[in-house]
Order: sequence, then C-alpha cells, then structure tokens
Amino acid sequence: MKIATAEFVRSAVDESGWPKDRLPQVAFVGRSNVGKSSLINSLLNRKGLVKTSGTPGKTREVNFFKINGDFYFADTPGFGYAKVPGKLQEGWAPMIEKYLRGSERLCLVVYLLDIRHEPGENDFMMEEWLRDTGVPTAHVATKADKIGRGSRAKNLRVITDALGLPAGAVLEYSATTGEGKNRLWDAIRTSIAAPPGA
Ligand code: GTP
Ligand code: MG
Repeated sequence: MKIATAEFVRSAVDESGWPKDRLPQVAFVGRSNVGKSSLINSLLNRKGLVKTSGTPGKTREVNFFKINGDFYFADTPGFGYAKVPGKLQEGWAPMIEKYLRGSERLCLVVYLLDIRHEPGENDFMMEEWLRDTGVPTAHVATKADKIGRGSRAKNLRVITDALGLPAGAVLEYSATTGEGKNRLWDAIRTSIAAPPGA
C-alpha cells in the first residue's frame, strides 16, 4: 500500500468525537502493551506518528488517523492493565463497546494478541464482543520477532484453540521486522473496498 498521507485527526472519548463523514474505519484493539500503536506506525511506515511506550496504558482515548484522505485508522486504548487508574479502567469498556457497536463505518477490527502469551479473561471478553457485534475481524499475533521460528506454530495454535478459531486464522506480525505487513494490508484493502452499508 502506498501511503501518501497519514495524519492525526483527533482523540475521542465518546461518540461526539467519532468521525462523522462516510469514510471507512479500521480499528485496532487488544491488551495494553500488545503493540497496537507500533503496528499502526509500521503499517504506515511512520515511526513516530502514533505514540508507543514500554509502559502499558500509553493510549487512553480512541485516536483517529486519516490515511490518503480515503479511510481512517482508529488506535484504541489497551485493556486489562491493572495500573491504569480505576476511573479510566471503568470508562474503557463502555467507551470501546460504544465505538465497536455504534460506528456505522467500521469495516474491520484488527485484533492483536501477543504471540508469546496464552489469551486470558479479557481476551475472551473481547473475542465475544467482536462476534456479538458481527464486525469483520482480522486476528494478528504481534511481536513474532520475539520467539524462535520453531515455537511459532505451537504458539499460534495455543491462540487459535483458546479463541475457538480455525487453524491459520491468526496472522503473524512483527512491527520490528515488518513481517506480516503485506498480508495484513491485503486484509485491510479488501475490507475497505467493501465497507458496511456501501
Ligand atoms: P497501549 O497503548 O498501552 O495499549 O500499548 P500498545 O498496544 O499501543 O503497545 P505499543 O505499540 O506502545 O508497544 C508496547 C511495547 O512493545 C513497546 O515497547 C514496543 O516497542 C514493543 N513492541 C511493539 N510491537 C513490537 C514488535 O513487533 N516486536 C518487538 N520486539 N517489540 C514490539
Ligand atoms: Mg498504544
């Protein structure tokens, strides 16, 4: 994908801030620190467009980016991080749920899971929500560079089994090496070419 422009539009905590135009939206969700913001930077070949951090809980609002003037990326706050102040934690679920359920132009959710970890309670909850909303989902296993090639199949299997997905349904990705980028762009391109309600 050729990225001519990628610009930050705004941060939003509720529907008053979701984009009002008809352009398709792609959202990135997953646990805190799983690598959402890094993956977006890597997809867009922009190192510092989205703020990333070694400290979980960096992204606290839904951040919208407009790409090529054609579609949006929505970076969402990660879930399941205990040190995020209670109020923010409480606000997270309703905010994300509202966005996932309420955004008519949401055409794909990219759901990130760390390739090194077995999915937990929060991951199951997210999976259930996504199925419930019916929005097309692309599952991505992040930080693939952190484990040896020999362990990959096994780790992917743990994730697909835990979430009840068919074998091969989870795409390996590394924001560090760029592995998986072309395949993820293929999925994104396909979904924005046929947005909901079009
Ligand atoms: P929150 O905004 O807190 O929810 O986190 P996030 O999901 O946006 O994670 P972020 O992109 O900030 O990355 C968290 C940490 O993981 C950072 O230290 C990144 O450098 C690191 N990281 C992200 N992706 C990769 C990857 O593919 N490989 C490696 N080795 N590290 C990664
Ligand atoms: Mg982030």
